[in-house]
Amino acid sequence: MIHLVPNLLAVLQSSSEQTPEGSLFFPPKASNFAAEADWLYNFIFWVSVVAFALVIAATVYLVVRYRKSVAPEPQPSPHHSTKLEVIWSVIPSIFLVVMFWKGFELFVDYRKVPAGAYQIQVEGVKWNWTFRYPTGAESNELHVPMGEPVELLISSKDVLHSVFIPAFRVKQDAVPGRYTRLWFEATMPGEFPFYCTEYCGTSHSGMITKAKVYETRAEFDEWLKSALNPYEGKSPAEAGALVWERKGCKTCHTNDGSNLVGPSFKGIWGATREFEDGSTGTVDENYILESIQMPAAKIVKGYQNVMVANGGQELSDEERDFLVAYITSLAN
Ligand code: CUA
Repeated sequence: MIHLVPNLLAVLQSSSEQTPEGSLFFPPKASNFAAEADWLYNFIFWVSVVAFALVIAATVYLVVRYRKSVAPEPQPSPHHSTKLEVIWSVIPSIFLVVMFWKGFELFVDYRKVPAGAYQIQVEGVKWNWTFRYPTGAESNELHVPMGEPVELLISSKDVLHSVFIPAFRVKQDAVPGRYTRLWFEATMPGEFPFYCTEYCGTSHSGMITKAKVYETRAEFDEWLKSALNPYEGKSPAEAGALVWERKGCKTCHTNDGSNLVGPSFKGIWGATREFEDGSTGTVDENYILESIQMPAAKIVKGYQNVMVANGGQELSDEERDFLVAYITSLAN
C-alpha cells in the first residue's frame, strides 16, 4: 500500500500533462486554477482511498480474529488505550486541516477578482448563453484572450442555470434577479466545452457552448471587431441562419426536419399546420412573425406551450426579418 500510492500518483501526474485533450481523469489544465484544484482533488481522493482500505482491512481482521468459534471462553474486558486513541485522532486531523487549509486558500483565490480584469457579461436563458463584451459585441460562445484575467458577470433571465467550464476548473450558478461572478486566466489556446450544469428544463442537456481562447490579444481583438457586425455582407437568409444559431433558436428548432422541443424549421414554409385548438393555418411571413413574438397564439398539434416571446432573447426587428427569410429558405 505504501508503495502503491506514490506509484499511482506518478501515473496520474504523467497522464495529466498539458495537452488539449487532457488526461484519463481530467480535462486539460487550461487556467490558472487548474494545477492547484487538481492537486487538492488528488490529495482528498488518495487520502480517502487509503482511509477506506485501512478501515476495511481492520474490519476484516477484527471479524476473523474475534469470531465466535475461537473465543468461546469469557474474555477480560478491553482496556482503554490512550496512545491508540491519540494516534487515530491526531493523524486524520492533520489530513483534515490540510484539506481545509488548501481548500480555503483556493476558495479565496476564486473569490478575489484581480483589479482590471476584462469583464464579460454572461446571460443564461432557456436554453442559450449570451456573452456581451465591453465593445458592445455579442456572441453565444465565450471568447477570451489567453494570459489575461477575465471576469464573468453572470445573470439569468428565467430560472437557475450554472456556468461550468471544466478545463478552467470554474463553476458558478446563474441566478435570476441577481449577479454572480467568477474569474479565471486562460493558460492554453483552444476550444473548451462550456456547460450549463444546473437542471433548467427540457433542453438543459442542449445548453452547451464553447469557451474559445485566443493565443494573442491581437487575435482576440480581431475577433471582437468581426463580432460587432456579425450580419455584415450576408444575405437575409444567411443572416437568419446566424440568428438561429446565436440566439439559441436551434436548441429547440432544428433545420434538418428532426423535432426537438418545438417543430423543425425545415420544410414548414407554405405548409398547412394543424393547431392544438383544432384550427389550421398556412405558414407564411405573418404566421412566423406571430409565432416568434406571441408563441402561445398558435400551438402546433402535438407540441407543448413552452416558448416565451422571442424565445426569451432580445431580437431586433431586423433579426426577426432575417429569421423569416431563413425559414423561407428552408422550404424544401
Ligand atoms: Cu440551463 Cu441547465
